Amino acid sequence: MNLTDKITITDHPLIQHKLTIMRKSTTGSKEFRALVSEIAMLMCYEATRDLPLTEVEIETPIQKTRKNVLAGKKLAFVPILRAGLGMVDGVLTLVPSARVGHIGLYRDPETLNPVEYYCKLPADIGEREVIVLDPMIATGGSAIDAITQIKKRGPKSIKFMGIIGAPEGLKALSEAHPDVEIYVAAMDERLNSHGYIVPGLGDAGDRIFGTK
Ligand code: PRP
Ligand code: URA
Repeated sequence: MNLTDKITITDHPLIQHKLTIMRKSTTGSKEFRALVSEIAMLMCYEATRDLPLTEVEIETPIQKTRKNVLAGKKLAFVPILRAGLGMVDGVLTLVPSARVGHIGLYRDPETLNPVEYYCKLPADIGEREVIVLDPMIATGGSAIDAITQIKKRGPKSIKFMGIIGAPEGLKALSEAHPDVEIYVAAMDERLNSHGYIVPGLGDAGDRIFGTK
C-alpha cells in the first residue's frame, strides 16, 4: 500500500501477523528479537526491489549466457542505536555483502529531541545506497536527525526502513526529507503525551535488549 509516493506500508500478511505478536505485552525479549529480525528481512525484500542491475557473462553447465547481478558498490545499512540494531541480522541475511554504519541517538525524555552520541559510517558511503534502520518513528526526530547526518557524507541515495510509524512522525519525516523513501509495516493511531506510539509496542530498545 502506498500512502504517498514516498511512504510504503508493507502490509504483507506474514509481516502483519508477526507484528501483532510483537505488540503483545506478554511477548518476551527472545521472541521479540526474532520477530524484529524476521520483519526486517521481509521488509528489506520490498525496499530493495529497485536496486540497479547489470548484465554479466556466465557459463552454465549448458552454455554461456548473460544474466543480471547487482550493479556497483551496492548497499550500506545504518541502524539507529539501540533499537535499529535489532533489524541488522535480518537485512544482512538477504544482503550479506552490505556494509554497516552506526548512528547513536537517544530521545531526551523531557524535550523528546534526539541527542547524538555516536556516528561511524562506511568510508565509501559515497558509492553506496543507504538504508537507515529503526523500528519506531514516533515524533520522527531521531530519523530526521540520522538522515541529516548521513546526507553530509553524500551517499548515492537514502531509504528509511521502520516497523511502526506514528502519523505525526511520518509526516514530519517525509516533509524534512522529501527525497527519502520510507518503508513501515504499520502506521498507528497517534502519539500519547509521553511521545509513545499508540497502540504501538512500547519501548522497542527495552523490549529487544530486556532492559526494563
Ligand atoms: C526510540 C526508537 C527511535 C526513537 C523514535 O529510541 O528506537 O530511535 O525512539 O522516537 P522519535 O521518532 O520521537 O525520535 P530511544 O530514544 O528510546 O533510544 P534507544 O533505542 O537507545 O532505547
Ligand atoms: N520509541 C519507542 O521505542 N517506542 C515508542 O512508542 C516511541 C519511541
